[in-house]
Amino acid sequence: MSDLPAPEAPAPDPRPTPTEPVADPGAAAELDVAELDVTAPDVAVAPAPVEAAVAALPWWDSAVFYQIYPRSFADSNGDGVGDLGGVREHLDYLRDLGIDALWISPVTRSPMADHGYDVSDPRDIDPLFGDLAAMDALLAAAHERGIKVTMDLVPNHTSEEHPWFRAALTARPGSAERARYVFRDGRGPGGDEPPNNWPSIFGGPAWSRVVEPDGTKGQWYLHLFAPEQPDLNFDNPEVVDDLEKTLRFWLDRGIDGFRIDVAHGLAKPDGLPDLEIPATQLMVGSVEDSRFDNPGVHEIHRRIRRVTDEYRAVTVGEIWVDDNERFGKYLRSDELTLGFNFRLARAQFTADDIRDAITNSLAAVDAVDAVATWTLSNHDISREVTRYGGGRIGTARARAMALVVLALPGVPFLYNGSELGLADVDLPDAALQDPMFFRSGGLMRGRDGCRVPLPWDGVAPPYGFTTGSSTWLPMPDDWAKLTVAAELDDPTSMLELYRAAIALRRSRPEFAAGSAFALLPAADGCVVFQRGQGLVCVVNTTDEPMQLPPGEVLLSSAPMDGDRLAGDAAAWVAL
Ligand code: NOJ
Repeated sequence: MSDLPAPEAPAPDPRPTPTEPVADPGAAAELDVAELDVTAPDVAVAPAPVEAAVAALPWWDSAVFYQIYPRSFADSNGDGVGDLGGVREHLDYLRDLGIDALWISPVTRSPMADHGYDVSDPRDIDPLFGDLAAMDALLAAAHERGIKVTMDLVPNHTSEEHPWFRAALTARPGSAERARYVFRDGRGPGGDEPPNNWPSIFGGPAWSRVVEPDGTKGQWYLHLFAPEQPDLNFDNPEVVDDLEKTLRFWLDRGIDGFRIDVAHGLAKPDGLPDLEIPATQLMVGSVEDSRFDNPGVHEIHRRIRRVTDEYRAVTVGEIWVDDNERFGKYLRSDELTLGFNFRLARAQFTADDIRDAITNSLAAVDAVDAVATWTLSNHDISREVTRYGGGRIGTARARAMALVVLALPGVPFLYNGSELGLADVDLPDAALQDPMFFRSGGLMRGRDGCRVPLPWDGVAPPYGFTTGSSTWLPMPDDWAKLTVAAELDDPTSMLELYRAAIALRRSRPEFAAGSAFALLPAADGCVVFQRGQGLVCVVNTTDEPMQLPPGEVLLSSAPMDGDRLAGDAAAWVAL
């Protein structure tokens, strides 16, 4: 199993769908949380002395982040691929949505074998997205609107077209050029077998063999992802120095921080031993997977932190590590400032899964006094509407979960298009571009379905995404009601729900960073948690309406029926 949950396979939902009869309709009694005992939390985080603490907190502790997948956000030059100009043109939309910070997926120079996660020059902008001037202009325009900008940093590997890798191919085994990467002799007769049994995340072996300059079959190099993404050797000081140079390059231009790709994979285990579990059982995030989460990784994060602290910049690491204690280590006060925890993105829409994800995510960060992050989807993970069942029910559940992530203590990351309620698009094979699809021989459909360009206005593709006629991935014919323009006109839309929720999150003291959190006892199928002194978020994962506790309903994801909350819905109630 890869660390990138297959977008094409929404997890099966153990609950009956609305068209199936419940096992015993008579037994589905109306749920009632009116008698909530708010003094008896299941899991509680002690209230911090809010005012004093908030003043001292860094900006990211109370921020709402928005992930821009630049190819798919907005196209300003008509070539059908989104770009930095497109982001800049829509900054007012983002400001009005209420977000505080952007995470922009890679826009650095790349031959695009993995859509920018294969970087050939980490200190320049790829012409597909613009140039350095376009980045500077975007930064200035975002800052004018009070929006911070963070960008993706891809330290684990380069592109095969990076000058370092090209030099390594023409250099000799044992040379300084090869020592920047992970080159090894093969095993077996003639060195014809890869140096170890590691599989690549995208399928096939994690090693490729090179042809030496004299034409003979040569060494093998490591690539945890595609062959076009050779892994760097972080034991080599030159590699770490170059990373520092990249950090400073962007920080000096005014970038507010970085999302760090494969933050748990930078250090490799001594001797590169075989994996002891069969590849078919691989669980990235499990302690058995020696390709990731090796002890040496922490010194690399300390080095990064020393630099980012000089600029008071944020770092958020991609950390696929399930064990809470090991996860927490990345967030010690001298390492990453934030870490992606993907538990909610993997949770099904059941009370147990949601509660478990919340409890574990908080436990992982509490131990090191760090702040949690919450995410329902990203460019690697199936969109939440699809994961929760698709269609009307998937949308209803995604609306409910929007109220969950925006009420939890910590930092929500919204993936572009979530606020419109987009679902994955079922693309024809001929349209697919993800290397995961090709490397796995079609076994994994890959991540293109959650990367389809955003619809802005109009009633047919390309829905204002581009002034050109085609888009890099085809857009579906049935998105007319999901465009930004259509949703701004519809008070019941997902977009209006997000805008209302983010505005309330800003204005209510219960949601302030450092404000208390407690998971409360709740009826079967419900999750209830409290923020501050008496605001509760109630989630009803059943398909029966439930009575809310007495109080003022500030916001609900579905129309209220008196004081009853519909199934597959959530509400914020001021008690
Ligand atoms: C994680 C990124 O999110 C994903 O899109 C990419 O393919 C891999 N890292 C490799 O960089």
